[in-house]
This record gives sequence, structure tokens and C-alpha cells, in this order.
Amino acid sequence: MPPIPLPTREHSGSGVYLLPSVSDNENEVTRAFREYFEGELCALDLKNERPQRILELGCGSGAWAIQAAIEFPEAQVVAVDISPLPAHQLQDVDISSVLPDNMTFQLVDLRANLPFERESFDIVHSRMVMVHVSARYTNFWAAGKPNAIYKVPNAKDLIHKAALLVKPGGLLLLDDMDHKSTVDTGGPAVRRCMDKIQKLWEMSGLDAEIGRKFQSILAETGWFSDIQVDKIAVPLGGCAHDERLNKLGLRSKEFSKRFVLAAGARLAGEGLTEEMVQDFVEELDQGSSAVWHFYFCAARRGILAKLDAQDLSPKPEGLDEMEARWSIQNSAL
Ligand SMILES: C[S@@+](CC[C@H](N)C(=O)[O-])C[C@H]1O[C@@H](n2cnc3c(N)ncnc32)[C@H](O)[C@@H]1O
Repeated sequence: MPPIPLPTREHSGSGVYLLPSVSDNENEVTRAFREYFEGELCALDLKNERPQRILELGCGSGAWAIQAAIEFPEAQVVAVDISPLPAHQLQDVDISSVLPDNMTFQLVDLRANLPFERESFDIVHSRMVMVHVSARYTNFWAAGKPNAIYKVPNAKDLIHKAALLVKPGGLLLLDDMDHKSTVDTGGPAVRRCMDKIQKLWEMSGLDAEIGRKFQSILAETGWFSDIQVDKIAVPLGGCAHDERLNKLGLRSKEFSKRFVLAAGARLAGEGLTEEMVQDFVEELDQGSSAVWHFYFCAARRGILAKLDAQDLSPKPEGLDEMEARWSIQNSAL
């Protein structure tokens, strides 16, 4: 499997995304799953696909989009994120000399209306993004008002928006995790720490269990003729019978430590204490029973499934309106 050249970045700097976005971690995730899938871009075999347009939502360092652009040289790949690609952050770097010729990048906030024509992409992909996207203004962490109640669109709305961009016959690929699985399977320190993170996550309007809901969210739309979901139970202690899975598990153990350390730095004031984080790291290093579930969903848009006029009209809820409502409601608290 040839190495893929991947850019690196340190922080998203957007202020909207909960965690610092460390591209080395994102690139590691890409490499680990690519190896697990034996060089494929996802759990589904894409050999027979002939995509002309591919969209990646929340591309991070751009790792998956770059791999897609290399594997489908005939396709145009558009990658979007709320933060610039790493190369944009380096001075004097011409981004066009860094990315494959058939790939472009756009700054997009996924909470707003997406700037693309409906049914215009053969493949729409998003990895580890739905679990992070909340339309609730994540200034929440700074404002420290966990009880603020206001109606917000959620990951489900974003999944619908993504689904609408897929051409009839095209594919929607969603990869995400389920934090609750580690609460259910870990030892005491992992349970305590992940339970706290999950509660904080949910208080900010994020869905820590989104992976397990892909199937039902997509089935409900009636737009897909085939929905395949692969659940990979990744053993963070590397104690499964399958060597390939163990390798993924031990690499994922390192991602999860980095993830929890980053969360600890950000959420100390919200009750995720240094002690909880340290105990989590120690328990994992001593060999943990924790299993992290990752969901890889591949859904084929039905050729005949027609979207209703109502689905095709733009969402009334723009980002400005949501932010305005957020500030009105918060000032009332
Ligand atoms: C865990 S990273 C995953 C990155 C990449 N998909 C990968 O798998 O390597 C989550 C990404 O979602 C992006 N993100 C979070 N909220 C966003 C929003 N509202 N609009 C656009 N991107 C967002 C972050 O900037 C970050 O790059």
C-alpha cells in the first residue's frame, strides 16, 4: 500500500469545534483505518464506482479527500471544513501545489445551508464529524450555562442535508463512533471519564451515540434503496482474536488517549478533572477491556426515490437566525 502524502496542522482555531484539531491524529486515524480496510477508502468495495464528483464534509487535515482524489483521478473532489486546510495556515505555500489537481477546498460551516446543488455529488463522505457538529452555539463552554434551552437542529438535520446532495444512484458514506460503547465496556476509570465526557457532550447539543443511529435516520428518509452499516468493535486493549483488529485497537488506544487529554484541557472547568484523565490514561496503559464502536455506513440513493418539494426547498433556519436566537435566549437566563 503506497504512503499518501498528508498535510499537518495544529489547531482548528475556529472556536466552534469542541476539540483542538490535531492533524497528526487525523492522519493516524486515516492510516489506521486504511490499513484495516486493506487500502480501501471505506468498508464498502468502491471498485465499480465511477464517480465524477465527490464531496467530503468536515475534511480536517484533508487526509480522506486526498486519498479519494488519488484513487479517483477522473473525479473532482471538493473538501470542506470550518477550519482551513493545514497548508493554508503556512505562509508562502500555494495550496494548489500541495493538493492533487482534482481536489479543491472550501471553508464551510456545516451548521449553515450548504452551498451546493441538491443531487450533485456521486459520493458524499463524512468521517467523525456528525459526533462533533452541534448547531447550538458552542460558545456554551465559555458561557458556562449548561441549562440554556433552545431549539436547535442536530446531527440528524446535517445528515439530511448531506443526503440531499447525493445523486440518485450515488453513495452517502458516514463514518462515526459511539462513545457510549466505552462507558459500557471499560473498567472503572474509563467508565467514569467517558461517562463525564458523554454527559458534557450531550449538554452542548452533541450526540455521543450518533454512529448507532445512522441506519434509522437514513431509513426514515425513504431516499435510500440500500443501507449497509458495518460496526467495528475496536478493542482498546488489543485482546481480540483477530490480529488486524488488535492492531487497530492498539492504535485507537493512542487516539483515545489524545482525545481525552485534549478534552481534559478544554473541559477542566466543567468537571472533567485532571485526576479522571490521568486515571483513564493509566487504566488504558495497563490493558483495558474497553471496546470502542465505530460505525461505517454506506447508503445508496434510490434511483426512483423522489424528493418531496418540501425537501428541496432551502431550510428556513440559517446560521444567523440560530445565533441570534441563541443570544436572545442566553441573555434571558
Ligand atoms: C474529528 S475531526 C475529523 C476530521 C476528518 N474528517 C478526519 O476523519 O480526519 C472533525 C472535523 O469536523 C470539523 N467541524 C466541526 N464542526 C464543524 C462545522 N460546524 N462546520 C464544518 N466543519 C466542522 C472540524 O473542524 C474537524 O476538522
